[in-house]
Amino acid sequence: MALHSVIIAPDKRLKATSKPVDSVDAGIRRLMDDMLETMYAAPGIGLAAIQVGVPLRVIVADLSREGEPTEPLRLVNPEVLWRSPELVTYEEGCLSLPEHYAEVERPARARIRYTDHDGRMIELEADGLLATCLQHEIDHLTGVLFVDHLSALRRGIILRKLAKARKATIKASV
Ligand code: NI
Repeated sequence: MALHSVIIAPDKRLKATSKPVDSVDAGIRRLMDDMLETMYAAPGIGLAAIQVGVPLRVIVADLSREGEPTEPLRLVNPEVLWRSPELVTYEEGCLSLPEHYAEVERPARARIRYTDHDGRMIELEADGLLATCLQHEIDHLTGVLFVDHLSALRRGIILRKLAKARKATIKASV
């Protein structure tokens, strides 16, 4: 397994639309294992392939608590089939927007269809934090970040801070 580096916003690669996976082969399984390792190391609870520069419809997630056995989810070609009319608000973060958090309102429940790592078609009805996490990750597949759900003003503040932090890091490392 290998750790990938996570692309930090603002970066046009994060705005790309990811392509469907043709078949779940050894390469896709290895990609998902590497993404899980990268996510656990960060640490984070979800990661989309585009965040490590791979524009394929692949996401991973794990909502198990610290000290409990891991519960990795590997989703290929995930699709939201249904969203509940009721909404819920969670404070969201993203490995591509480090140290920035904001409350985002989303459907409280969602039915999601995906192909698992064995190539089986699965339908999952998610609620609570899992519903929010999976909708956040599926957003990444069409280039949508959680800040795109905020006002243009708040989004601008966060993205400018990230761009400034990157410049400072580049200066410090030369
Ligand atoms: Ni994210």
